[in-house]
Amino acid sequence: MLGLLTPTPAGWIDAALSNFDAVLLDHFHCELKAASNGTALVARYPMFPRLVRTLSDLAREELEHVQQVHDELQRRGIRAHPPGEDPYAIALRKSTQGDTPKSEYGALLDRLSIGALIEARSCERFALLKEHAPTEALRAWYAELFASEARHYRLFASLAEEAAGEELARKRLAQLAEREAEIVERLPLEPRVH
Ligand SMILES: [Fe+2]
Ligand SMILES: [Fe+2]
Repeated sequence: MLGLLTPTPAGWIDAALSNFDAVLLDHFHCELKAASNGTALVARYPMFPRLVRTLSDLAREELEHVQQVHDELQRRGIRAHPPGEDPYAIALRKSTQGDTPKSEYGALLDRLSIGALIEARSCERFALLKEHAPTEALRAWYAELFASEARHYRLFASLAEEAAGEELARKRLAQLAEREAEIVERLPLEPRVH
């Protein structure tokens, strides 16, 4: 799905449903990080007008998701706390080190490619949650989030092509997708979005 080379391991959905509160809390942190990644990219690369416009929109949308997940946490009486370590994102970022393309915007290409892969993996997992989440309302909500992550994947991939050229961007995304697949297979199954 969406450039991913391996499906989520079969046991993930059971791990997620066994502690759905933990999934929601991690989801809250993911949305926060998605919003701040959008604004960080705008701050670092304001020379790309389409990037500024589309990632400002993305950051606003991610902040709406932050609020939605927080509302759900409150309904459940769960008190949010600041995010801790995110082993998936850390491993993914680390996987780019050492061979970032040497072109002028190689670092941007890597950040956009990682963004695309994270959105794609969230999208794939929301596809499972839109089928299996514990209530009808949650399933409908995850169906909306699933569609939004698919859009975000395409946005990051197209921004990467614009910044680095189609050929290099596609090659790098495919290379990083291989590393993403290894990371997903290696990480323990936990009640988290990633
Ligand atoms: Fe989101
Ligand atoms: Fe997203």
